[in-house]
Amino acid sequence: TRKHKVAIIGSGNWGSAIAKILAENTTAHPHLFESEVRMWVFEEDYQLPSSHKKYDASKHSQPKKLSSLINELNENVKYLPNIALPPNVVADPSILSAVKDASLLIFNVPHQFVSKICDQIHGHIVPYARAISCIKGVDVSPEGISLFSDVIGRKLGIYCGALSGANIANEVAEEKFCETTIAYDPPGTLTPCPEEFPVIDHSLWKHLFHRPYFHVSMIHDVAGTSLGGALKNVIAIGAGFVDGMGWGDNAKAAIMRVGILEMRKFGLMFFDSCKSETFTEESCGVADLITSCAGGRNHKCAKLSVEQGRPIEEIEAEVLNGQKLQGTLTALEVNEFLRARGKENEFPLMTAVHKILIREASVEDIPRLLADADHTS
Ligand code: NAD
Ligand code: 13P
Ligand code: CA
Repeated sequence: TRKHKVAIIGSGNWGSAIAKILAENTTAHPHLFESEVRMWVFEEDYQLPSSHKKYDASKHSQPKKLSSLINELNENVKYLPNIALPPNVVADPSILSAVKDASLLIFNVPHQFVSKICDQIHGHIVPYARAISCIKGVDVSPEGISLFSDVIGRKLGIYCGALSGANIANEVAEEKFCETTIAYDPPGTLTPCPEEFPVIDHSLWKHLFHRPYFHVSMIHDVAGTSLGGALKNVIAIGAGFVDGMGWGDNAKAAIMRVGILEMRKFGLMFFDSCKSETFTEESCGVADLITSCAGGRNHKCAKLSVEQGRPIEEIEAEVLNGQKLQGTLTALEVNEFLRARGKENEFPLMTAVHKILIREASVEDIPRLLADADHTS
């Protein structure tokens, strides 16, 4: 019998936290998985700050490749500092070497980079590979809207499910308790995985992701799971805007209530397989909305942008140290999609957030924009 080889494509804040989980579980389940978890790193030079506890002037006085620093220190010193990564996480700056022979591919990069990465690895993966996307975003093109699980599956000719939940990466990396949702619902027509391998089913994915501090719920609704993670980023920006105004907890609760309804409405209107319960009962729905509107980066940057009267992109570049917001681009993409279908008025909050981001409205307008909207459908 053979074991599954696991590769993670991405090593940002969430990518690194998920790599830690994967490596803990390949060690915990040696009959199912090879120990080593290859982690693809988008290479850059990084100067380790002299304040870092592992700083050694004889080794770190010059910038080094981030991938070498990760392997030397067992820590992603730039994107997940002060968290020990298991030694079986191996950082690899070559995407082709990272995915070579991997039967389980975990995608975890900011959504704007996915398409290019898939083009690079197309034809270089085993045909029986299966994937999970941890990406929160949607892909909008003139043809319509796609989930990243579908983009990845289509571009690589494999099946891809989705992981999403109330999972602020730093909290997960510190092993503070949380829940997540994994949706996996493959068709029966895939290139079969050779019989020597453990079967790739819900139970196998649970063995790969579940930890005592990271509780996995397995479901079949890939669309609902993906959309929850993508759309809440837009709502979290709205919550950050009203917090920036100092409007208090009632205002933020209103944004969250309208937000979850618009998220669910969007899913049910445009994706036939989407289930209402995914938004109201799973971690990837209401729970992710709540945590993101409290402690997420989209919320934080939107709040600072109102407080300082500066564009959110400027705040993002200044405070996130290379981490990326997903809500700004998603607000634009969702609006493009809704406008093309004459549906902007049916999603007044998402539309208001977009108008504010492009400076066609101001945050003061939010109550009026919500009141004026068409609530009939
Ligand atoms: P991040 O915000 O830390 O982004 C930085 C990463 O992007 C780095 O690895 C960097 O090397 C990479 N990058 C920069 N330019 C690139 C390029 N041109 N090509 C490829 N990669 C490039 O990333 P993250 O937090 O790991 O987020 C990945 C996904 O996970 C996002 O969709 C996000 O919404 C989602 N997510 C994040 C969190 C969180 O708390 N951070 C939690 C759950 C889900
Ligand atoms: P932010 O990207 O806004 O930090 O959200 C993180 C997240 O998705 C928590 O579940
Ligand atoms: Ca429908």
